[in-house]
Amino acid sequence: MTSPDYIIIKAKEDGVSVIGLTRGNDTKFHHTEKLDCGEVMIAQFTEHTSAMKIRGSAEITTAHGVVSSEERA
Ligand code: TRP
Repeated sequence: MTSPDYIIIKAKEDGVSVIGLTRGNDTKFHHTEKLDCGEVMIAQFTEHTSAMKIRGSAEITTAHGVVSSEERA
C-alpha cells in the first residue's frame, strides 16, 4: 500500500505545517509536522496516509513536478 514515490517538502519560511490525512471512510488529520525555513521533509503516501496538506510557503517536489505553496496574502 505504501507508494514507492517520495514527496519532498522544503520549507521557505518558519512554521510550515505538513499535515497527514487518514486513508479510508474518514478523512482526518492524523499527524502535523512543523518545519522551519530550510528544513526538508521526505515522506510517502502509506496505508495510513492518503493525502497531505501543506500550510505556509514551501517548495514541494513530487513525481508530477515541482509546485510552490504560498503563505496567505
Ligand atoms: N505514521 C504515518 C504513516 O505511516 C507517517 C507518515 C507517512 C506521514 N507519510 C506522512 C505523516 C505524511 C505526515 C505526512 O502514514
